[in-house]
Formats: sequence, C-alpha cells, structure tokens
Amino acid sequence: MILLDSERDAISARISESCPPETQRVLTAAWAHDVEAVKKLLDTPERARCQDPLTGETPLHAAIRSCGPPSDDDDAADLEAAKETVHELLLWGGIWNDVDDRNETPGCVAHRLGRTELYNLCVEAGVRAEMLFGVLEGYEELESGDEAEEEEDEDEDAHRPNEDAEMVIVGEDGEDAPELVTAVENGAAEETEKTFQPPTNEAGVDVNSEAYLRSKLTYSEGKLVDDEGNGVMMAWETDIMRQSVDALLPGKESGKRILNIGFGMGIIDTMFAETKPAKHHIVEAHPEVIEHTSSPDSKFGANWEASAPEPGAYKIYQGKWQEVCVQLLQEGHVYDAIYFDTFGEDYSQLRLFFTELVPGLMDSNGTFSFFNGLGADRAICYDVYTKVSELHLTDAGLDVEWKVIDVDMSQLAEAGEGEWEGVRRRYWTLDKYRLPICKFLG
Ligand SMILES: C[S@@+](CC[C@H](N)C(=O)[O-])C[C@H]1O[C@@H](n2cnc3c(N)ncnc32)[C@H](O)[C@@H]1O
Repeated sequence: MILLDSERDAISARISESCPPETQRVLTAAWAHDVEAVKKLLDTPERARCQDPLTGETPLHAAIRSCGPPSDDDDAADLEAAKETVHELLLWGGIWNDVDDRNETPGCVAHRLGRTELYNLCVEAGVRAEMLFGVLEGYEELESGDEAEEEEDEDEDAHRPNEDAEMVIVGEDGEDAPELVTAVENGAAEETEKTFQPPTNEAGVDVNSEAYLRSKLTYSEGKLVDDEGNGVMMAWETDIMRQSVDALLPGKESGKRILNIGFGMGIIDTMFAETKPAKHHIVEAHPEVIEHTSSPDSKFGANWEASAPEPGAYKIYQGKWQEVCVQLLQEGHVYDAIYFDTFGEDYSQLRLFFTELVPGLMDSNGTFSFFNGLGADRAICYDVYTKVSELHLTDAGLDVEWKVIDVDMSQLAEAGEGEWEGVRRRYWTLDKYRLPICKFLG
C-alpha cells in the first residue's frame, strides 16, 4: 500500500504505541505546540532529543511535521506557537540533524513541507552548532549509529571534503535554558548524529586522507574512482569547473598566475592552461594521479612544462598541499587565481587552507574559489555549510560572493544510475550549486 505524504505525516504514523510514556508526552506536547507543557517537560537535554524507538520521531520533527504544508487554513497563532516550540526545543538540546526512520532531519521535514520559517530556525541551529565545534576544534567524526539504514535510504555521501555535521545547542541569554557550557557538559556534543557522510570503504569505515592517498585509483570514461568505488572526480562537474574558471579569470586574460590544488581529472587545469597563464602551478598528492599526468597522452607532461614562459612557471608539485604550499610561500610565490578541490579531507582542512595559506599566497587583487560540495547530500546541510564557511571566510579576511548555478540533475537523480553507475555513493543531490568567489575584504 502506498501512503500519501499526509498519511505518512499523521500523528498516528509517527508516535507509535510502543513509544515509552515519557517520550510520548514530550512528542505529543511538541506536536500540539503546547509551549507551556513542553517547557515543563524539558528538564534535561535528553528529553529534548528523545526519539520514538520505532519511527525515530523527535520532538523537533513532531513540532514541525504537525504544521503540514502551508494552506489557506493556516492559523497564525498556531504557527507562532510552532516557532516558539521549535525554539524552546533547540534551546534545551534538541538536535537539528537527528534523522528519523525516513532519513529526514527536522529541517528536511520543514523543507519538504515548505515551512520556511521553521526551516530557517533549523539552519540557524546548525550554524551555531558547527561554529561551536569550530571553536572547540571539533569536526570530530561521530558514529551515526545506523549507517546501514542510512545507506539503504536516500542517504547520500558528501563529496569532498568529508563534511561532518555535529551538534551542540547554545543556550541564549535570558532564557530558562541550559548554558552553553552545560550543554557541552551534558554531552550534547557527544551524542549527536553525523549526517554528512564521508566516503567509506566496504566495511562502512570513513576513507580519510591517508587511506585515500594509499588507495588504487581507476580512471574510466567520465570518472575517477578510488578502490572503494568512491567518486573522486566526475565529468558531470565540468560545467562547475568551467564556471569556476570564468569567476576566477573573468575575460580569461592571458598572463595570469594560477595555483590549483588537486589535479583529479585535470578538467579545471585544462581550462586554466587554455588561458595561457604566466604561471600555472598544480599541487597533487596522489602518486597515481601524478603517474597519469606524465602518461604519453597527458597534456601536462614534459612538453607542457617546457612551454612555460619561464623555467618552472608550469609545474606539478608532487605532495600534499599542507607541505607544498608552505614551500611555495617560503619561495615567495603569489597568485592571481587560486582554486582548491581535494578529496578525502574534512572541512577543517579547507578552513586551514583559506585561513593560513590564502592570505600569503594570493595577490591583493586576486580571487580564490573552492569546490563547494560541503553538505551537498541534503539541502539543510548545504545551507548550514554555506553560512559556516562564509563566517569563517570573513574571519580569514575574505569577502565571499555566491554565484548560484543550475545543476542538470537529469542524470544525477537516482543512486547507482546515470552518472552514478559504478559509483558507491551519490554525493550530490541538489539542483543548485553555490560557487564561492572570494576576494580580500575592503
Ligand atoms: C576532486 S579531485 C580534483 C578535480 C579537479 N578539480 C578537476 O577539475 O579534475 C581531487 C584531487 O585532489 C587530490 N588530493 C587529495 N588530497 C590532497 C592533498 N592533501 N594535497 C594535494 N592533492 C590532494 C586528489 O588526489 C585528487 O586528484
């Protein structure tokens, strides 16, 4: 039997009979937007993040789901109460990225229903949580507890880097809510869900940078995959690469100084090379990618190096950017355009790159961009990471403009099909890409 969304979202389908009474009470009060009852019931963060054992419904899911989609019958007072309920739950430790049995976070439910204000509250909570993890030097990977189920469902892998969403609720002044430090002490940081799934191996273990750099790669028609079948780079991203070059080198003037981190399939480097730069440096860490660049049919072999306007101006540096870029800094290299697109690294590495290295490597009028696949497995994670990276970019002295471009999803809509054939996970699910164009502030 196929259930309609309205039936699947009914209270009877979401709060199960086997749900423990204490959890049922919180879920029912949240569902009814009974703010006073919710406040009375919430005396620990555990209460705010309780879940129906069968459906995975949390109080946040319940408060949002019961609103249903917008309609002429909307009751303004009830919507206000819904917002207050969500706000209260978040203050008390409700988790913005907990998934239910359908692999939906509360924000995903708000997004699907078209409840923008509630969705925005979830995004803001995600941003607060991620910023806090940044301050605490977090981004640690926490087990989600049901990877298998997530895989079966629509859970899609974040592409590069390995973005991990973590959650801590920050108490706000003047509210009868836990303080920030209390929330951390209460373990909110340790019991949260990981929704940004990094590439994994067969055992479901995350592929980290070291493991990736040791892995065997396969170049085939339109894709580069590691030995676990994770997509390292795919040809469907060519338009994103093209538009990134347009943003970095508007007018495509020749004679620019270019630095690209991560060669992959050489798509963006081929485009950079066509502009006849004065300097074109590439940093690549994987030995097999390096081998590929020196194969007889590669455009980036000895002939390319020899075609440089000056010796050493066209060069592939072998090694991790973490080491090579320090060397480039020490040698005094400066670039007009810098692009960053690696694989198997987490967000902290991207942040490290633009905070510690871009300021020294980029010309004062230069432009920096990166592959923005952060949280691209679901809309809310993408929105959270857009804001988080924007805040961190500003912190690093960079102003960012997001150019929104359409992604043709016709061959990308289903896992294992179309472009995803032979690729372990569908790391991209969105029909819009936000292309970051970063320049120095001021
Ligand atoms: C997604 S691909 C880049 C695709 C490229 N933008 C293109 O247009 O084809 C990522 C590349 O980064 C490389 N890489 C991963 N970690 C690296 C690191 N720490 N330093 C340098 N390169 C790295 C990978 O080996 C891979 O070749």
